[in-house]
Amino acid sequence: MFKHLFERKPLSLLHEEMKSDNRLRRVLGAWSLTSLGVGCIIGAGIFVVTGLVAHDKAGPALMVSFVVAGLACVFSALCYAEFASMAPVAGSAYTYAYATLGEFFAWIIGWDLVLEYTVASASVAHGWSKYFQNFIGIFGAKVSPLLAKAPYDYDPARGAFATGGFFDLPALVIVLLLTIVLVIGIRESSRFNNVMVVVKVVVVLVFIGVGAFYINPANWRNFAPYGWTGLSVFGKTVLGQVGQDGAPVGMLAGAAMIFFAYIGFDSVSTHAEEAKNPQRDVPIGIISSLLICTVLYIAVTVVLTGMVPYQLIDRDAAVAVAFQSVGLRWGQFVISLGAVAGITSVMLVLMLSQPRVLLAMARDGLLPKSFFGAVHPRFRTPWKSTMLTGGVVALMASFIPLGILAELVNIGTLLAFVIVCAAVLIMRMTNPQAERPFRCPAVPVIPILGILFCLVLMFSLPSQNWLRLFVWMAVGMVIYFAYGRFHSVMAERRKTGQSEPK
Ligand code: ALA
Repeated sequence: MFKHLFERKPLSLLHEEMKSDNRLRRVLGAWSLTSLGVGCIIGAGIFVVTGLVAHDKAGPALMVSFVVAGLACVFSALCYAEFASMAPVAGSAYTYAYATLGEFFAWIIGWDLVLEYTVASASVAHGWSKYFQNFIGIFGAKVSPLLAKAPYDYDPARGAFATGGFFDLPALVIVLLLTIVLVIGIRESSRFNNVMVVVKVVVVLVFIGVGAFYINPANWRNFAPYGWTGLSVFGKTVLGQVGQDGAPVGMLAGAAMIFFAYIGFDSVSTHAEEAKNPQRDVPIGIISSLLICTVLYIAVTVVLTGMVPYQLIDRDAAVAVAFQSVGLRWGQFVISLGAVAGITSVMLVLMLSQPRVLLAMARDGLLPKSFFGAVHPRFRTPWKSTMLTGGVVALMASFIPLGILAELVNIGTLLAFVIVCAAVLIMRMTNPQAERPFRCPAVPVIPILGILFCLVLMFSLPSQNWLRLFVWMAVGMVIYFAYGRFHSVMAERRKTGQSEPK
């Protein structure tokens, strides 16, 4: 019975499926894919989380945290790129896991990707709402406090408490608007994303270029005020200092939090089915978008921590307030505009990615095909699951507080990266002859480093994340054992007497 749990979907079957009619439209080139990657990466992480982490966890050593988190992502990206070139279909890490580790792990990772994409979209929508309200505030406009935030919030010291608001109206509206764009088409979504990406990259470059003139090296003197580590194992801090909320602090703890800023490069792999030349362009899109953002992030942090003493960095809108603090008031306008554009494109790409993973899972029978597998006859988009994703994100973003949503996202994504790195190692052993248009260099060193870096970051996160991850996975298990296990493509093949081909 348990043997079937680990049954693998043959690569040959993946390639065969690519020839069927129910496919997405192939319209994306290397530029669009890179732009989708950048679109999904630069957002609430750099504009919002950076200030929080510099202030509370790492100080100026945040620039090293960005290097460490960036390395974990580069190692994982090389593994993603190898897989994306081998199996250029819509499901990303989920599909890779089905081909290497078997159905059970595939389900786990697919369910985990829901955590990454849907829950991240909802967290990012909160960031959008904050920056939007900040932006219209420059012109004296204001959203009623009753409609400006989720009805309750969470603080580790106080627990849950009422905020006095009903729901977050701006978050709700932006999610619904983006859902319409996403249903209409991949080409329209990609064009919209390209515009947003140009705006936000220009704004980031302006910050680096102008801010560099305001650096005071004395601000870097106390470079790592919280130390260089910050590692806990299930709630027990084993390396480094403990912060006020009981969670570890230090450069490594900062890397685990700031990892959020890098989330998104992997979403390029979910668009493999819409790429014109997936085997070449998807690896290019994954690696180049990650490298561009890594360089920009490190530069932003160097400038930010050089401009403002870490204790004075703003925890909500660090980048905008840094300009304000040196008397560049126009900067607040420019940065807020860039942040609104930037965060919009992150949401767009995350919400574009989720239905494509659900589509791949539905094609494999792990989710109901008639709903999650439906491709719109005219728009050629997975419209039903796009609308469902939009609805769930809108509800989460308007009613659940940011703190609860954001922390879950990092641990879920890191787990996905660990599985992809492991899957590359396994595939090299089980299918050494398979065609690999892009080969991850220095195997097994890079995948092993990827696994180790991601695990260290997972252990540097506050411990309650592990508990939330287990609960999430337990819910996933119930769905798998109640539905997917009996309807999967491999179960069907067994019924019709087709065994697992090699
Ligand atoms: N990397 C994305 C952001 O920072 C999730 O908004």
